[in-house]
Amino acid sequence: MTTLAIIGGTGLTQLSDLNIIKREQLDTPYGQPSAEFVTGELNGSWIIFLARHGNPHTIAPHQINYRANIWGLKQLGVEQIVAVAAVGGITGDMAPAHIAIPDQIIDYSYGRKHTFFEDETVTHIDFTYPYNQKLRSRLISAAAQANIKISPLGTYGCTQGPRLETAAEIRRMERDGCDLVGMTGMPEAALAKELDMDYAAISVVANWAAGKSEGEITMDEIERHLHKGMANTAELLKAFVG
Ligand code: HPA
Repeated sequence: MTTLAIIGGTGLTQLSDLNIIKREQLDTPYGQPSAEFVTGELNGSWIIFLARHGNPHTIAPHQINYRANIWGLKQLGVEQIVAVAAVGGITGDMAPAHIAIPDQIIDYSYGRKHTFFEDETVTHIDFTYPYNQKLRSRLISAAAQANIKISPLGTYGCTQGPRLETAAEIRRMERDGCDLVGMTGMPEAALAKELDMDYAAISVVANWAAGKSEGEITMDEIERHLHKGMANTAELLKAFVG
């Protein structure tokens, strides 16, 4: 049986439908992971859940110990990761509360510990397709089964945060081909690939990205839309594991 992990982001610090079986604190050669690894049963399947920003939510995107998180999951025997994260919507359908299963990434983050390969052996992973295609297909099917409208493609741009972007930065990202903007997709996806784990993402749109709607982006607005998007995500995940 394949061991599946779900990494929860902003708005998904806990999985309310998870019947918790155990909680494990792990230390890794890279330091402390964001939170305890929670093993539980979700809709008849065993999964491991990790709160990316800690529980409670206290760790900013640029301060997350991505290496400890991914290493810890690998130590626990995890082979597949579904990563949930809030994003801003840039193009077309990517309206607040919408869900996308991105297929590409552009990385604008910097200064993060982004590789396990730091010794003399130079290793270059292939990253042409950053997300695992089979896992993506299964997520897309699960969404159809749960009757949730999603976008089955999208390019995710990862910014450094924790501030949101300027309108000009978003215009540049749109010209680059980004559909979504978030702060936590990298180096998480690359680290999973380095350890040979299947990784796919569920991007939940919290707001129109900077300059894509009237006025400023408020935390109130983000929370309201995330609430709805995460409720759909929970249904999608149940269908996915079921
Ligand atoms: N930008 C970057 N990350 C985000 C946003 C955004 O507008 N909304 C939620 N996460």
